[in-house]
Order: sequence, then structure tokens, then C-alpha cells
Amino acid sequence: MTMEGSTIARVLHVVGVVLWIGGVAMVTTVLLPATRHLKTPQERVAFFENIERGFAAQSRITTLITGLSGFYLVHWLDLWERFTRSEFWWMHAMVLVWALFTLVLFVLEPLFLHRWFIERARHRPESTFRLVARLHWVLLGLSLVTVAGAVAGSHGYLLFGR
Ligand code: HEM
Repeated sequence: MTMEGSTIARVLHVVGVVLWIGGVAMVTTVLLPATRHLKTPQERVAFFENIERGFAAQSRITTLITGLSGFYLVHWLDLWERFTRSEFWWMHAMVLVWALFTLVLFVLEPLFLHRWFIERARHRPESTFRLVARLHWVLLGLSLVTVAGAVAGSHGYLLFGR
């Protein structure tokens, strides 16, 4: 049995999502709380920076794979019409989550977010880490609701029915 293009795209899509959102979960639930045990603000920033830098590079690749395979699926399966229907909210949610991360990773971070974080953490480490942790929880929550909606939705369960 040969694999269709759409099956290959779906495999790439889900592998991309697992690596990417799994990494966000790891940073949010393990890495950020672990920085609390470090003594000085300098140590916290250095520790977080070292690990997050590697993760950001990996996220850029997985975001690209997920986005490309996602749009390929929409095109191949001709699903554009779903974007006009509210029961397919999870399709909008996927594009929203992808767009948010793409904006942060490819535009905001290289432009100013990185410098802003270092500068703010130097002066107000506690509140900066609290803010960063809160933002990570929001993104993780949004991503997980999207994953749940997408798995249920693409297997026929639509929240608002037809
Ligand atoms: C450009 C952004 C994206 C597009 C265009 C896109 C598109 C798609 C399409 C067309 C499907 C197949 C739907 C079906 O078979 O009915 C799908 C499945 C899925 N997507 Fe996305 N997606 C995108 C981003 C994301 C993101 C950011 C996530 C995670 C937060 C995600 C998670 C999933 C999951 C879990 C599935 C279900 C796979 C399965 O159970 O077969 N997608 N996506």
C-alpha cells in the first residue's frame, strides 16, 4: 500500500506539533519553575537564555514544518470553505496559534523581544520571570485546546454539530 501525499503531510504535521507544543509544555512546566531555585538574577537569565535559545531554533523549524504541511492539507483536501463555518473553530484556532508563534519567533524576538527580556530581567527579575511564565501558560493553554479541538474535529466530532 502506498502512502498518499495527504497522509505524509498529516504525519509531518502531527510530528511537528508534538515537537513544538511538547517543547512549549517543557519550558512552561519544568524549565521556568526550575529557574526559581537559582540564586542570582544573572544566573536565572543565563540558565533560561541558554536553554530557550536552543529551543527557539528548534521551534522555528517545527513551526515551518507544521505550517507548510497544514496549508498543504487545506489545499490538497480543498478545505478552504471550513474557514467560513463556526463549527470548524479549531481550524481558525490552528492558524491563530501558528500565526502567534510565527510572529514571536520570526519577527518580534529577533527585532526586540530578546533585548527587552535581558534588559527588564536585569532591573526587575522577579516580575519579568512572572510575566514570561504567565505568557507561556497562556500560549500553552491555547495550544492544548487547539490540539484537542483539531484531533476531535478531524475525526468527525464537531463541537457545535452541523
Ligand atoms: C498554518 C497553520 C495550520 C494549518 C493550515 C493546519 C491545517 C490542518 C489540517 C487541514 C488538518 C487536517 C484536518 C482534517 O483532516 O479534517 C490538521 C490537523 C491537525 N492539526 Fe493543524 N494546521 C495548522 C496548525 C496547527 C497547529 C498550530 C496545531 C497545534 C497547536 C495543529 C494541530 C493539529 C492536529 C492535532 C491535527 C489532527 C491530526 C489528526 O488527528 O489526524 N495544527 N491541521
